[in-house]
Amino acid sequence: MNMQFDKTILVTGGAGFIGSHLVHRLVQQYPAYKIVNLDNLTYAGNLENIKDIEHYPNYAFERADITNHDQIYALFEQYKFDSVIHLAAESHVDRSISDPLIFIKTNVLGTATLLDAARRFWKGDYEGKLFYHVSTDEVYGSLGNEGFFLEDTPYDPRSPYSASKASSDHLVRAYHHTYKLPVVISNCSNNYGPYQFPEKLLPLFINNIRNNKALPVYGEGINVRDWLYVEDHAAAIDLIFHKGKMGDTYNIGGHNEWRNIDLIRELCRQMDEKLGREVGTSEKLISFVRDRAGHDMRYAIDATKLKEELGWEPSLQFREGLSKTIDWYLSNQEWLDNVTSGAYQKYYEQQYAVA
Ligand code: NAD
Ligand code: DAU
Repeated sequence: MNMQFDKTILVTGGAGFIGSHLVHRLVQQYPAYKIVNLDNLTYAGNLENIKDIEHYPNYAFERADITNHDQIYALFEQYKFDSVIHLAAESHVDRSISDPLIFIKTNVLGTATLLDAARRFWKGDYEGKLFYHVSTDEVYGSLGNEGFFLEDTPYDPRSPYSASKASSDHLVRAYHHTYKLPVVISNCSNNYGPYQFPEKLLPLFINNIRNNKALPVYGEGINVRDWLYVEDHAAAIDLIFHKGKMGDTYNIGGHNEWRNIDLIRELCRQMDEKLGREVGTSEKLISFVRDRAGHDMRYAIDATKLKEELGWEPSLQFREGLSKTIDWYLSNQEWLDNVTSGAYQKYYEQQYAVA
């Protein structure tokens, strides 16, 4: 343990979307914790997301690759982490379809590398230690019209992304079972909010509406996702980190299911209002395109365990959260322009050229 701080927490992926919200929260709410943000700044990692907390005395940034064992172990030696909250990952399903191997490397090998560094560094002295793995509801597969994902729903991942996340979850449980490594896992539904890379549905469509570009809706737009405001996810991680039961899994979800097309129509309605455009203007940009390969039909989380055991509930109503999110992107156009330039543009052209 670092004598200056009560805890020294390694957060991986803290320059990404959810990680940056979590790092903000931990750095600001827990001055007695040292937060070390480890990220290798892929296309999705952006230090602008966390620039306002860079000067905090309880914060440090380390550019490193979670698949590089020597780098990771050296950082354990340097900081003597007593906890890990692991978010770093390749996270976009479409990219996993066009380039699966980087998902296996980052999400599977990267998680294994971190687990093994923790095991070797902690050497069985697990007092006050925790490895928290942030995962996704996609590991459970795809639902029909009925039912919800529970913590004991059998795994049935169906994309290279979800298969890589499922593999990483299995490794975390294997390290718990075999080495007694203290772990906890949470599986969350679709997040939305500020700082999300505009390859994901909501920021992509907000940006396209702003620029009068087509809105590429996959298939018939009837797939269902369960949307949660990103700060509610960060609050749930904070709670589970402090109060979750060792070795357990917690599902996190918004109880907020939307068919893509209904969500997009609501987005168009709010955007017309905010941009002062005539009602119906943005909807005209909707363009149905070829479906995502193996597109999961429906995700829906049952978060009863988290509510009953730890008292967590989402704090924001969806329409309000969506409105806040749109306002953020509209007033942070420079952020959007920066991340949509250069390398990202090339990816965008490849992904939608064939649609
Ligand atoms: P993101 O793509 O926005 O951020 C991922 C971050 O990981 C980036 O900063 C990137 O630079 C970093 N990273 C990637 N490869 C790395 C490597 N080899 N070494 C170090 N850093 C690396 O992702 P996100 O949407 O914020 O998701 C964060 C985590 O939450 C992921 O594990 C994801 O599976 C999980 N999750 C996401 C959602 C969602 O809706 N976005 C929902 C549930 C779970
Ligand atoms: O469920 C949690 C998961 O949610 C996370 O684990 C992933 O990291 C995150 O990316 C997200 O996965 P999805 O595939 O559900 O999110 P995405 O924003 O890519 O797509 C949401 C829905 O919108 C999905 O049904 C596909 C559809 N879509 C997406 C894009 C990018 C479109 O119709 N058109 C698009 O251009």
